[in-house]
Amino acid sequence: MTYGPATTTSTSAAAGRTVDLKDVFARLDQPWQPKVVARLNDYDIKCARLEGAFVWHDHPDTDELFIVMNGSLTIHLHTSDIALGPGQLYVVPRGFQHCPVADGIVHTLLIEPRGTVDTGTETNERTYDPDD
Ligand code: NI
Repeated sequence: MTYGPATTTSTSAAAGRTVDLKDVFARLDQPWQPKVVARLNDYDIKCARLEGAFVWHDHPDTDELFIVMNGSLTIHLHTSDIALGPGQLYVVPRGFQHCPVADGIVHTLLIEPRGTVDTGTETNERTYDPDD
């Protein structure tokens, strides 16, 4: 039985400690370079600053969750455009081509399996590996 934070057995980078998202976002000065702030089992919890348009891509093996904290984000799909504001979330179904476009600066939380490539099936100049 464990009576406190299981910091010695958990694989989570943030298990047992408080993460202040406001501070994390304040320090994020580069767009489209998500920072892993915690791990939940095999999932990364990431903070990302988005600015302008990303690139069209898809993730064939995983859904992708966007939680908008600040700003206005449009996720373009081939079938529709999803407009998100603060406090709203959207899950892009696996295999769906999408292109996120931030109106100004947008702060988002992303939750996705560890190792998910931000640009999906292709790697290019926009690809960013938060573990590098
Ligand atoms: Ni994506």
